[in-house]
Amino acid sequence: MIPVLASLRGRDFLDVADLDPAELRSVLALAHAIKAGRWAERPLAGRHIAMLFQKPSNRTRVSFEVGIARLGGTTTTLGEQDVQFGRRETVHDAARVLDRYVDGIVARMRSHADLVELAAGAEKPVINALTDRSHPCQILADLMTLEEACGPLGAQRVVYIGDGNNIAASLIEAAALLGFRLTVITPPGYEPTPQVLERAGSIGSGTSGVLISNDVAALDGATAIYTDVWTSMGQEDQRATRSKIFAPYQVNKKLMDAAKDAVFLHCLPAHRGEEVTDEVIDGPRSIVFDQAGNRLYAQMALLAEIMGPR
Ligand code: CP
Ligand code: NVA
Repeated sequence: MIPVLASLRGRDFLDVADLDPAELRSVLALAHAIKAGRWAERPLAGRHIAMLFQKPSNRTRVSFEVGIARLGGTTTTLGEQDVQFGRRETVHDAARVLDRYVDGIVARMRSHADLVELAAGAEKPVINALTDRSHPCQILADLMTLEEACGPLGAQRVVYIGDGNNIAASLIEAAALLGFRLTVITPPGYEPTPQVLERAGSIGSGTSGVLISNDVAALDGATAIYTDVWTSMGQEDQRATRSKIFAPYQVNKKLMDAAKDAVFLHCLPAHRGEEVTDEVIDGPRSIVFDQAGNRLYAQMALLAEIMGPR
C-alpha cells in the first residue's frame, strides 16, 4: 500500500520549501513506487493541464507531457509566442482565463515574480517548471536519484559546484527539509542570495548542514558532486565573462579524483567542455541520464499528490 498524502491536494508547488519534510518524503516514496511498477493509478483521468514555457525545454516539457498522459490526463503546451505574458495581456489576466479551462498549470517562467503572480491569479494548482530563482521539480528527481544510487539521504554529503542560482537554491531548501549535508561552492559574487538562505533557515532542520564556500577544494566527505551550466537560459550575453570566472570550478577528472567515490550529477542540458568534461559526464560515476529519466516518476508522483482523485 503506497500512502498518498491528502495534504498536497489542490496546492501550488512553486518551491521545494512549499512542502514539509513528510510531504517531500511522501512524494519521493510514491515516485520510487511508480518507477518500480508498484503504483499505476490514473488520478488525472478527465483532467487537462496547461503547460506554459517562456524558455526552451526538453526534459521538463516531455517528462510532464508523458507523465500526465500516463496518469490519464491531457495537456495543452504553449510556448513563448503563444501567451506572450506582459505583451498581449498581464500574467494575472492570462491566469484568470486559463483557470476557467484547465485543472492545473505547469509553468516555466523567466521571472519567479511572474510565476508568483500566475499562481495568485489562478485558483487551480500551479507547478514551477523552472524560474530564475528555483527548479523544484528537478530537485525531486535529483533526490530520488541520490536515494537510488547512494541510499538514505541522511548519510550523504552533496557538493554542488557552480552558479548559486536556481538549482542551488532548490537544493538548499531540500537539504533543510530532509537534513542531508550540502556544500555549495561558487565563485565569489555568485553565492545563493540571502533570501534563499533565510527561507531555508526557517524550514525543516534549517541550514545548519549547509555550507557555502568559494573553495573548489572543499570536497571532504562528498558522496555526490553536482554541477549546472555556468550560463543559464536568459544570461547568454554574459557567457564570455562567466566562462572566465567559472573556469576554476570545472568538474573534471582531477576534481572527481579528489572527490574519491562520489557520483556525478547534472540537471542537463550540459555545456560539455565548460562546467563538465566529456570524461566525467560519460564516465562510470556519472548518473546524469538516470537523473534525467527520474524526472518522469518524480513529477508523476507530485501530480498524483497535488491533483489526486476528485
Ligand atoms: N533539466 C531541465 O529542466 O531540462 P530542460 O531545460 O530540458 O527542461
Ligand atoms: N540553471 C539552468 C538550469 C537548466 C535546467 C538554467 O536556468 O538555465
